[in-house]
Amino acid sequence: MKISVQKGDITQIQVDAIIVNLFEGIKKPGGETGAVDKALKGALQDEIRLSPALTGKLGETYVLNIYNHMPARYVIIVGLGKVDELDEAKIRRASAAAIRACLKLQVKSVASVIHGMGTDGYDPKTSARLLTEGTLLGSYQFTLGKSKEQLKKAPQRIQKFVVVESDAKKQPAIKEGVKQGEAIALGVNTARDLVFDSPNHVTPTYLKKTAESLSGLTLKVLGQKDLAKLKMGAFLSVAKGSDEPPYLIHLSYRPKAPAKGKTKTTKAKKITLVGKGITFDSGGLSLKPSKNQELMKMDMAGAGAVLGVMKAISELGDLNVQVDGFIATCENMPSARASKPGDIVTTRKGTTVEINNTDAEGRLILIDTLTYAQEIVDPDEMIDLATLTGAQVVALGEIAAAAMGTRDSLIESIKTAGKSAGEKFWQMPLYDEYKATLKSDVADLINAGSKGQAGTCSAGMFLKEFVDEGRAWAHLDIAGPAYTSRDFPEVPKGATGFAVRTLLYYLYGLTE
Ligand code: BES
Ligand code: MG
Ligand code: ZN
Repeated sequence: MKISVQKGDITQIQVDAIIVNLFEGIKKPGGETGAVDKALKGALQDEIRLSPALTGKLGETYVLNIYNHMPARYVIIVGLGKVDELDEAKIRRASAAAIRACLKLQVKSVASVIHGMGTDGYDPKTSARLLTEGTLLGSYQFTLGKSKEQLKKAPQRIQKFVVVESDAKKQPAIKEGVKQGEAIALGVNTARDLVFDSPNHVTPTYLKKTAESLSGLTLKVLGQKDLAKLKMGAFLSVAKGSDEPPYLIHLSYRPKAPAKGKTKTTKAKKITLVGKGITFDSGGLSLKPSKNQELMKMDMAGAGAVLGVMKAISELGDLNVQVDGFIATCENMPSARASKPGDIVTTRKGTTVEINNTDAEGRLILIDTLTYAQEIVDPDEMIDLATLTGAQVVALGEIAAAAMGTRDSLIESIKTAGKSAGEKFWQMPLYDEYKATLKSDVADLINAGSKGQAGTCSAGMFLKEFVDEGRAWAHLDIAGPAYTSRDFPEVPKGATGFAVRTLLYYLYGLTE
């Protein structure tokens, strides 16, 4: 879908459908919706009066077929909810709902007003960004798995989306907002594609190729031999059972040097992201039952999110934070070479771990990566993302991720960014008492000792053992929200690209 910004009057644009909005309870709309009503000789007001299906509730869409009054064939009226409850997530959601209604109509070209701008207090850049995000996130479809023949039969997609505003002075800010929104949505949809795609296609090598395709970033890839040299015994123990080679991928974004004549006053903050990239989690010798294996292609969603964030940064640039993205990727498979329950491995840090359950593999690949990332970057803040525990899904479902770590202010910042981004994070504790679950009779630690209690916190506690004293660190367990069985306007069913938006909002300081 090509998005353009045009100065003009929404009633006069040459497209198949136009989108306007309505706040809940409004009987006589003003602004652009009012202008459309006027062009329709009051038909919109009549419809509000007569139809119980047109109320302005958030995300509600109502289609008016119009002939002869305007160049467009349809007017889509999207509900923004109550005027005093409007927020960024609601603008994004309404934008997504509206484009979904257009998809149903199988139109080719659409024009939209910028929801929430002006009277409601949202500046042109922010509202244009939210409109763009919602539009591109809501119209996302995973198509890589379909044959060309099937795709030919698929319904018509939207080719042209015009953002319309009559005030010329607002155009530059709107264009900037659209550009931001496009990059953010591209990041999210990149993560979605990677998670949706099949495990025979998305292998560790494929993630490496994806990283290689990003421009404007530096890349270092460590292969099996490098990992062995670095003594990453925990990581390698997981990779052992598979024929696919493992990789530790390091992408880095460095802020541009200050312009000539300007001296840098402060050193750029360093934020490090670490993603779990198990491209398939069979459980290893502690094999999962078939039902639980079905969706384990999604066990690289943390890595997908890191790649999505880095992709958006590579598009947008213009960030005065150093961002390092680490991806630990391999398969977790059973074989004659696979690690066995009872094995004791030595981590890069030197700590030994008894592997009593090969299905608790995520924490094993992460600990060596966390150790390495801290050595290489010495980050001010380190955030890891992982589909780490089934217990997280039990605790919070698909709705929210679990956040925990060593610095409450970092968790709070992530929660705040999440609010603007429309993603929920709920803090879980890392009480010292959970350490008891990590005790092994034969090694320093055991990888799966929680015995069905507080599995998410126990896993977080395990990771914490490998975080340097004093380091600001957050662990985001995204097992539930990475893949959804429910359909939301801006999050179609399936792979969600969860956390990409929140992290970008955090890094770019886009919070409310
Ligand atoms: N990848 C799974 C966690 C998972 C479960 C992600 C459901 C998404 C949806 C992880 O590797 C795992 O198997 N964890 C085990 C740990 C246990 C053996 C301590 C789990 O949660 O059952
Ligand atoms: Mg597992
Ligand atoms: Zn896993």
